[in-house]
Amino acid sequence: MQGRLFWYVLTALCLVSLAPSPSARAADIPARGILGDASAPQACTKCHDEPALSSIFHTAHMVKADPRTRVETEGCQNCHGDSSGHAAIMRPNQVRPAPGRVFKGPQASPVDVQNEACVSCHQGGPTMHWPGSAHAASDIACTSCHQSHAVRDPVLVKVSQPVICFTCHADRRADALKPSHHPVLEGRMACSDCHNPHGTVGPSLLKAGTVNDTCLTCHDEKRGPFLWEHAPVQEQCTICHTPHGSVQQTLLKQRVPYLCQDCHDSSQHNSQPFSGTNLPGSVLPSRQLVQRACLNCHSEIHGSNHPGGVRFTR
Ligand code: HEC
Ligand code: HEC
Ligand code: HEC
Ligand code: HEC
Ligand code: HEC
Ligand code: HEC
Ligand code: HEC
Ligand code: HEC
Ligand code: HEC
Ligand code: HEC
Repeated sequence: MQGRLFWYVLTALCLVSLAPSPSARAADIPARGILGDASAPQACTKCHDEPALSSIFHTAHMVKADPRTRVETEGCQNCHGDSSGHAAIMRPNQVRPAPGRVFKGPQASPVDVQNEACVSCHQGGPTMHWPGSAHAASDIACTSCHQSHAVRDPVLVKVSQPVICFTCHADRRADALKPSHHPVLEGRMACSDCHNPHGTVGPSLLKAGTVNDTCLTCHDEKRGPFLWEHAPVQEQCTICHTPHGSVQQTLLKQRVPYLCQDCHDSSQHNSQPFSGTNLPGSVLPSRQLVQRACLNCHSEIHGSNHPGGVRFTR
């Protein structure tokens, strides 16, 4: 109730301040209301001066010196669309029409209408591959992730970004809580260190196009070239690792030796049948199974440059 009263009073005040002098009588106000010039931000801030909205004046979108923002010519209408009817002086009991574009709440415009505003200025750079990308194809609004009125858009901040992604990708939160994980919840890394949520040329919105190129931007020492290469490492890191979190050590998909035995068959030394006598804790545990198992000896698992490192043992 109080909120509504506030608007009535505010609207009345605006009416007085916007009205041509002497003050307009109801009868003089045409059916669409008295249209003002809505292209300056001040046309809107007359009524919308709450701190949570005027914070936008401290963002990149309201930098007058940057002609790309078009603040001087379009003002708030850059995003909210033609709102001259909405900003007009109303006749008594006249229903104020909605602004050209609404981003949140029950009157929100369709997603494509919302995104049209943002895309009209953001087409190159990081948003270049937006059309047809996974999020665009799923009808996700730019403003599902971005808050335009916030001084510091939370999705651009490492610590707050994952919270936003988790609202739709809850399974990723579960992964991030597993014992081995990339330090995302710790705020040392963001999802956007590996993903470009606006779209990429490669799979899974990965920033660098391929899985390996993405991983190797940080783990360059695994790139090689090695004198002795381990085929699956060259092929794809995610054959053995899971990127988001694992209950195994070092983000492994499976425990060693089982991981290795997916590919290395049991006709060789490495895969003596497991029995009650060779498992860890038994009388004669197999050295292939205790401690670091295969890695006891094959410690250079990503590849070796040692002349004698053909079996990745050094
Ligand atoms: C004369 C006062 C007045 C002016 C001027 C005004 N508005 Fe509003 N605006 C309102 C009122 C009152 C509401 C609340 C309407 C409601 O809740 O139904 C509102 C609501 C809104 C909303 C939210 C709509 C929704 O459905 O959630 C947006 C966005 C908005 N205004 C943008 C603007 C923009 C942009 C301008 C300038 C071009 C502007 N307004 C100028 C009075 C004004
Ligand atoms: C860069 C695009 C952009 C510009 C420029 C912009 N807005 Fe907004 N506005 C939004 C988005 C997006 C929302 C939805 C809330 C959010 O994500 O911050 C919004 C929400 C609003 C709301 C509704 C708030 C609510 O709580 O329902 C009002 C009112 C509003 N804006 C007024 C303005 C005014 C006044 C200006 C100019 C001073 C302006 N906007 C400039 C994008 C913009
Ligand atoms: C009138 C053109 C225009 C429109 C419309 C527009 N932007 Fe921008 N935006 C800019 C400019 C200019 C910058 C600052 C220059 C830059 O960083 O590239 C910017 C910067 C940004 C940034 C980076 C902010 C930062 O702090 O670094 C984000 C995020 C962004 N815009 C998102 C949006 C979203 C979401 C919408 C739609 C709701 C939108 N923009 C609508 C022109 C626009
Ligand atoms: C799924 C969430 C998500 C959606 C949807 C999204 N963004 Fe972003 N956006 C981000 C994240 C995360 C970043 C930070 C990227 C980084 O740090 O590398 C970002 C950064 C940006 C930037 C700043 C880029 C820079 O480095 O200066 C702009 C501009 C931007 N987004 C515009 C848009 C526009 C326009 C749309 C809609 C077409 C959109 N975004 C949709 C998550 C999103
Ligand atoms: C509003 C909901 C929403 C938010 C917020 C959101 N996403 Fe998504 N995301 C989706 C939908 C829907 C899909 C497509 C369906 C699917 O694959 O689950 C998707 C797909 C993806 C994909 C897979 C793309 C592919 O090709 O398989 C990645 C990666 C992704 N999102 C990352 C992110 C990141 C990073 C963030 C935060 C910056 C984020 N998402 C925020 C809804 C969201
Ligand atoms: C260390 C790099 C890295 C980080 C950090 C990362 N991802 Fe991923 N993400 C990947 C890779 C690689 C894939 C492809 C998985 C595959 O091919 O097995 C992927 C796939 C996805 C997918 C689609 C496929 C699936 O498994 O559902 C979603 C959604 C996703 N990531 C969301 C996120 C979110 C949300 C965050 C932040 C909390 C995040 N990612 C952080 C590397 C990363
Ligand atoms: C933006 C940089 C970055 C990218 C890209 C990246 N990582 Fe990492 N990675 C890290 C950081 C930081 C750590 C944590 C190191 C620490 O805690 O000292 C880490 C740790 C790891 C670990 C060890 C985890 C543990 O529990 O000990 C593995 C395995 C790993 N990353 C694999 C990958 C794979 C696979 C990819 C590609 C899908 C990838 N990383 C992409 C930065 C990155
Ligand atoms: C054949 C399975 C396999 C593949 C494929 C693989 N790794 Fe590993 N990785 C491992 C194993 C096993 C460990 C644990 C090594 C240890 O504990 O000594 C490990 C450990 C790591 C670590 C943490 C310890 C360290 O050595 O820094 C990182 C980082 C890592 N891998 C990155 C990668 C990257 C990047 C790729 C892709 C280029 C990749 N891995 C491909 C099996 C693999
Ligand atoms: C996805 C399948 C795959 C996985 C998982 C895998 N490897 Fe391999 N490994 C290969 C292939 C393929 C070769 C190359 C075989 C060749 O050249 O004859 C190879 C080669 C090797 C070699 C050298 C063999 C030789 O003949 O020179 C060793 C040692 C080895 N792997 C150990 C391991 C260990 C230890 C693990 C577990 C940490 C592991 N591998 C996991 C596929 C795999
Ligand atoms: C005690 C050290 C040791 C352990 C533990 C060990 N290996 Fe080996 N592995 C070797 C040595 C030494 C060679 C090379 C000698 C040879 O040619 O037989 C070798 C050779 C291999 C080869 C090449 C093919 C072959 O049989 O010559 C593969 C594949 C292999 N190991 C995989 C594994 C796997 C998988 C495990 C874990 C289940 C494992 N190794 C555990 C020492 C070890």
